[in-house]
Amino acid sequence: MTNKKRIIEVLRTGQAQEKITIQGWIRTTRKLKEFAFMEVSDGSSLANLQVVLNQDIPDYENIIKRLNTGVSISIEGELVESPAKGQRIELQATQVEIFGDCDPETYPLQKKRHSFEFLRTIGHWRGRTNTLGAVMRVRNACATAIHQFFQSKGFIWAHTPILTASDCEGAGELFTVTNFNLDKLIAEKKDAIDYQQDFFGRKAYLTVSGQLEAEIMAMAFENVYTFGPTFRAENSNTSRHLAEFWMVEPEMAFCDLEGDQNLAEEFLKYIFNFVLENCPEDMEFFNKRINTTVLSNADNIINNEFERITYTEAIKLLEKTTKKFEFSVEWGIDLQSEHERYLAEELFKKPVIVTDYPKDIKAFYMRLNEDHKTVAAMDILAPNIGEIIGGSQREERLDFLEARIAQMNIQADDIWWYLDLRRYGTVPHAGFGLGFERLVQFITGMENIRDVIPFPRTPMNAEF
Ligand code: 4AD
Ligand code: MG
Repeated sequence: MTNKKRIIEVLRTGQAQEKITIQGWIRTTRKLKEFAFMEVSDGSSLANLQVVLNQDIPDYENIIKRLNTGVSISIEGELVESPAKGQRIELQATQVEIFGDCDPETYPLQKKRHSFEFLRTIGHWRGRTNTLGAVMRVRNACATAIHQFFQSKGFIWAHTPILTASDCEGAGELFTVTNFNLDKLIAEKKDAIDYQQDFFGRKAYLTVSGQLEAEIMAMAFENVYTFGPTFRAENSNTSRHLAEFWMVEPEMAFCDLEGDQNLAEEFLKYIFNFVLENCPEDMEFFNKRINTTVLSNADNIINNEFERITYTEAIKLLEKTTKKFEFSVEWGIDLQSEHERYLAEELFKKPVIVTDYPKDIKAFYMRLNEDHKTVAAMDILAPNIGEIIGGSQREERLDFLEARIAQMNIQADDIWWYLDLRRYGTVPHAGFGLGFERLVQFITGMENIRDVIPFPRTPMNAEF
């Protein structure tokens, strides 16, 4: 095999007369009497490579019959300048090898446009479509940008556990992990389960957040971040919720709520810039096919400062508007998605950082403000998405933290190590969590979160 190339390289830098080999899957074919055209994709770019075959390739008659959409193929040939519009270069085949045939009668990805709902039912094929292909490349670019951003600032990537015994958010949305044989327990009609006999000798769960362990790491390395899967048994069937999603959680020692907001804003801007630079064709595609505000949104994020308001100000603004909400507004409520979207989409038309929420609607670890009613929390609300980031300055004072966990009926014994961090060399610190799929939605304009992760996990669905 001579000079194997990925299609993206060929399209960007391939030169006429270069002899190359490409491998991929046929997207479309056009068979004429004396020659055939086909478009081939290897997933490296949105655009396909056009390949021209004529009768002098070995075994032409036999091969031409088998050239259907979905066929996997290896093609050797020579690049030539393309006479066709919209492409600089094409491949004149000299040798073709077919790996796997594909029956056009039963292959589910026909040339017509499919709905995203339908594509979810054929999750093993959707990576071969234009939209999901573009999503996965942008998703990959976002992940690269995240590591690059934090690594360039000297943050340590902290690998926090997926199996855990603590409920960081206290929202009770935990998936239990057990090694018990449930069928046997039921057959034995036990009236209580003794978790001391279970694998870990205690009740264990899939993590909802790596934050508590990230705090441990920040107390030794100053600045760290986690980036991994998190799990929530939230029974919410919305276009913004998954049962398994990826979260990025930086945690910074010697940092307050303002530093937290500054980092989050710089971080989002960095990722948008990176994606525009590295995936320009995919971003053009989203702007044209998915949502015509994708590029102007990116421009808006990169070039404007985010709005910053307190929760109390947000409530006043929501009370003032004539817009009717399904959930009524008063100080103390948790902002609903309709409220969040009104603020970001309609009122400010850009991301809004809302700070200082009532303590009763937030998690135990947030730092109590001087008013003793609010905590040093911050949520970033994004147009079309709503909450994309949730973070806070953490309670670093032992007595305040102990009082809070007592009020909330949290077992201090279970998080003795978390309290220890406040006993020995405590420091002000802060961090946040970015929902990775909501970020990908925000960048690409994709409507449904199930279409920005390769294998979505949602209530009643764990296919593929
Ligand atoms: O606001 P959350 O619950 O915050 C935390 O978990 C903190 N421990 C983060 C921290 O301070 N280190 O979740 C953070 C973000 C949300 O803003 C949202 O973007 C995303 O995670 N998220 C979800 N994304 C998809 N599906 C779900 N079910 C999500 N729940 C939260
Ligand atoms: Mg939140």
